[in-house]
Amino acid sequence: MSTRQLLIAGNWKMNGGPYEAAELLDGLKSLKKNFTDDIDVLVCPPFVSLSMAVKYLHSSDIQVGAQNLYYEDNGAFTGEISASMLAESGCNYVLVGHSERREYFGETDDMINKKIKKAMAERIVPIICVGEKLETRKNDGHFKFVSDQIRAAYNGLDSVQALDTVIAYEPVWAIGTGVTATPEQAQEMHAFIRQELEALFGNDTAGAVRILYGGSMKPENAEELLTQEDVDGGLIGGASLSAKSFAELIVIAENLS
Ligand code: PGA
Repeated sequence: MSTRQLLIAGNWKMNGGPYEAAELLDGLKSLKKNFTDDIDVLVCPPFVSLSMAVKYLHSSDIQVGAQNLYYEDNGAFTGEISASMLAESGCNYVLVGHSERREYFGETDDMINKKIKKAMAERIVPIICVGEKLETRKNDGHFKFVSDQIRAAYNGLDSVQALDTVIAYEPVWAIGTGVTATPEQAQEMHAFIRQELEALFGNDTAGAVRILYGGSMKPENAEELLTQEDVDGGLIGGASLSAKSFAELIVIAENLS
């Protein structure tokens, strides 16, 4: 069991415009009225629903994050959103380098590194997403692959800055597929990521940074994943779109804390 405070984060992806988001948050608030201070809960709606979600959750213990940002401050970048805009909208967290961004929108390690630095400059905690494809795992290249992603993401950050980051290990083959990494596979990779952090930043930072698991996490498999020593929470896609299953996930994490 992790000694770090668990973080349960919902990644809504391209779901939930303002009306639908309000409905989902209403459902969540009615199912889950009280929260313990022992875990952190976060929802990451689409940009257009962020302000509404921040207002809506103002007096609740649920925090709001974005799913992406751009690394320039402002200017002629049609369609993009900057870190300062997210900060102004009340976001505390932002997902960076999700595999769908890497795959469908051509995000490179270099862009991801710049995004991380920009988010941190605005005091927004980046949730740095890493994870290999099935092919890479089959060829036994998954540790090297994730190591390269981690090293590129943290390029230029020091051990104090790294404390204000979160990592999400999301094996691409487990995202939205219903196939979850086994608890052993998750623990093995999380422990490896922590070793990498130790090599980069030393023991204290490596021991403090939270590493979430993502990829078909749901109430049915959450406990076995969240009880692994180096699994410090979950980044939840599909199951965060149902108030009932997200509330259940929160309760499972609370009961483990
Ligand atoms: P999933 O998505 O829970 O639907 O597999 C997780 C994610 O992509 O963050």
